[in-house]
Amino acid sequence: MALDLDVGLERVVAAATRLSDVQGEHGRLTIAGFPAEEVAPRATFEEMVYLLWNDHLPNSEQLAEFQARLAGYRSIPEHTVTLLRSAAERQTNPMDALRMGLSSLDVVADDPWEQAASIVSQTATIVAAFLRLRAGEDPVSPDPELSHAVDFLRMVGGEVPDPARVRALETYLNTVSDHGLNASTFAARVIVATESDLVSAITGAVGALKGPLHGGAPGPALDMVFEIAELERAEPYLRSKLERGERLMGFGHRVYKVRDPRADILAQATLRLYAGGAGDQHLYEMATGVEQVALRLLEEYKPGRNLQTNVEYYTALLLHCLGFSSDDFTPIFAVGRVAGWLAHCQEQLETGRLIRPSCQYIGEHDRAWVPRSDRGW
Ligand code: COA
Repeated sequence: MALDLDVGLERVVAAATRLSDVQGEHGRLTIAGFPAEEVAPRATFEEMVYLLWNDHLPNSEQLAEFQARLAGYRSIPEHTVTLLRSAAERQTNPMDALRMGLSSLDVVADDPWEQAASIVSQTATIVAAFLRLRAGEDPVSPDPELSHAVDFLRMVGGEVPDPARVRALETYLNTVSDHGLNASTFAARVIVATESDLVSAITGAVGALKGPLHGGAPGPALDMVFEIAELERAEPYLRSKLERGERLMGFGHRVYKVRDPRADILAQATLRLYAGGAGDQHLYEMATGVEQVALRLLEEYKPGRNLQTNVEYYTALLLHCLGFSSDDFTPIFAVGRVAGWLAHCQEQLETGRLIRPSCQYIGEHDRAWVPRSDRGW
C-alpha cells in the first residue's frame, strides 16, 4: 500500500499565529503586522519583544517599564555560572553550554510572563558569560541601567559599545526574533503543550536550533568563505562541493523560494557596519563575491530549485563584524529567537490543546514470542 506521508510536515497547518507571516513565494516576512524591513532596523530589542508579546508597540512609559522589568532579571544564578565555568574548561560547544545554562534555571510556576521575561534576559547573560569564560576571563556583571543589546555587547566585550554596533545587533536580533512555525518554535510549542514549563520548552527549542539544517548554518557558511580565501578560488571550490553532493551553507530554504527577505535586511545592516570602517573590508567583498558565484552554480547544478541566499549567510558576516567567532553565531541567534519562542508558547497555552500527531505503523502484527534459547538468528 502506498503511504501518503508528509514526513517534513510542510503541508500541515498546526497553529494559528499573529506573530509572523512567512510568505515564501513572494519573499515577504511580516512580524506582528509590520513588514520585517520596516520594524527590524528601527525597533530596540525590548520594543520588539514587547510588540511580539502584546501585539502593539509600547509607548514611552510602557517601554521604560518593560525595559526595567527585563533588566531586573538579567543576573544569572551562581550555580549557572559554576556550570558554565566547568563547561568552558571542557571546551564545550557554546550551543551546548547555552542548553546546559538554560536548563539550570529554576522553574517559576505561578506567573509564566515573569518567567518569560527572566528567560529572555538570562539567555543573553548566559551566552555572554560563557563567551567570557571560554576566553579565560571572568563574566562581567549585568548593568540594569543599560539596554538589553548594549549590556549584552558590554558583558561580552567588557566595554560599552558604540551605537553603530548596538544598532547592528538589534537589527539582527529583531530580524530573527520570529519566523513562523520553524523547527525550534514547533519544538517549544510541542513541549509547552504538554503543560510542562517554559524553561523546558526553551531548552528543547535550543536543542532543535542547534542543527545545521536550522540555526547551525551561519558558522559553516563563514568557514566556507574563510576556506575559499581568494575570490578566484570560489568557483572550483564550490563546484567540487556540489559535485560531491554537498550542500552550500547559507543557501536554500524550506519556505522561501525567492531571496530570503531577512538576508536583505542583514545585508544592508552589514554594509552599513563595514562601510563605517568596522570589520575586515576584504572579507566583506570576498563574501559578496562568493555569494554571486554560489548562486550561479546552484542554478547550474540544481536548475529550477530556486536556491537563494538565506538569512544565515549575512548573519555570519554581520556577527563576524561585531567580533564574534563562528561558534558563537547560533547561540546569538537564540538570544533573538527566544522572544518568538516564548510568544509562541503563550499562544500554544491559550489553545489548551496537546500536540499529538499520528504515525502510520509499517511493522508486523501478531508476532509470537520466541524464547531466548530458541533464537538461532
Ligand atoms: N546547497 C546545495 N543543494 C541544495 C541546497 C544547498 N544549500 N539546499 C537544497 N539543495 C538541493 C537538495 O540537495 C535537493 O536536491 P535534489 O532535488 O537534487 O535532491 C534540492 O535542492 C531540494 O532540496 P530540499 O532538501 O527539498 O530542500 P529543503 O526545503 O528540505 O531544504 C534547507 C531546506 C534549508 C534544509 C536546505 O536548503 C539546506 O540544507 N540549506 C543549507 C543549510 C542552511 O543554510 N540552513 C539554514 C536555513 S535558514
